[in-house]
Amino acid sequence: MEKKEMLYEGKAKQIFASDNEDQLIVHFKDDATAFDGQKKGQIAQKGIINNKISNFFFKLLEEKGIKTHLIKELNERDSLVKKVDIIPLEVVMRNIAAGSIAKRLGLEEGTKLPAPVLEFYYKNDDLGDPLINRSHIEVLELADEEELRILAEMAEEINKILFDFLKNQGIDLVDFKLEFGKNKDGEIILADEISPDTCRFWDSETQQKLDKDRFRRDLGDVEAAYHEMLKRITGQESL
Ligand code: TMP
Ligand code: ASP
Repeated sequence: MEKKEMLYEGKAKQIFASDNEDQLIVHFKDDATAFDGQKKGQIAQKGIINNKISNFFFKLLEEKGIKTHLIKELNERDSLVKKVDIIPLEVVMRNIAAGSIAKRLGLEEGTKLPAPVLEFYYKNDDLGDPLINRSHIEVLELADEEELRILAEMAEEINKILFDFLKNQGIDLVDFKLEFGKNKDGEIILADEISPDTCRFWDSETQQKLDKDRFRRDLGDVEAAYHEMLKRITGQESL
């Protein structure tokens, strides 16, 4: 599969055309940003680790009946995916209060939520990805009622699958962000990535943070956390 022209460059990934017009190549970079790109850095080998972790999760989800964009891993940093029209929403699921919900609602970080909380953010860098509700989404025509129902159902199912899997590896799934797209048949499938960049993972015993919060908050041992998550999730000891 040949990598053709770069179609898009995001903060952590590049997207290339392939020799099949329905398929794209995703390249995972080591670049890391936080706070709408105000903080910039690199996390050594993050691209390799996130490609592996994300593909592991997408395969697990496919096995459980969730449709994803993943076709196959091509090499350490590149994966072949189905081309989709991304729905401009960040779909966040939360099991434990942390990050923006803790701040917004005055909850102490670490508070177990009585039920998973689903949130939608409008993917729009100029606006700083604001939190929006279902009425906003319908008015902006980002998704209709039926599509929102599907997004919510898929996010809840993904949460159950990942939560149970990670619990067995000694990890609490605090929260995570998903992105979905429509394939050429108009079907909604999971896209983007699921990795320590897009999830909060806390060690169940020690509550140690094993995700991008180590970078966002300057907690140190950032690379070690990514390697530890690779090991917990895939069993792979080192690269
Ligand atoms: P938040 O608490 O900052 O709103 O983040 C919720 C989850 O979403 C957390 O697991 C990190 C993830 N996330 C992203 O993947 N990309 C983003 O741009 C933001 C703000 C959060
Ligand atoms: N990657 C996002 C940004 O740079 C935010 C984050 O993951 O915290 O805005």
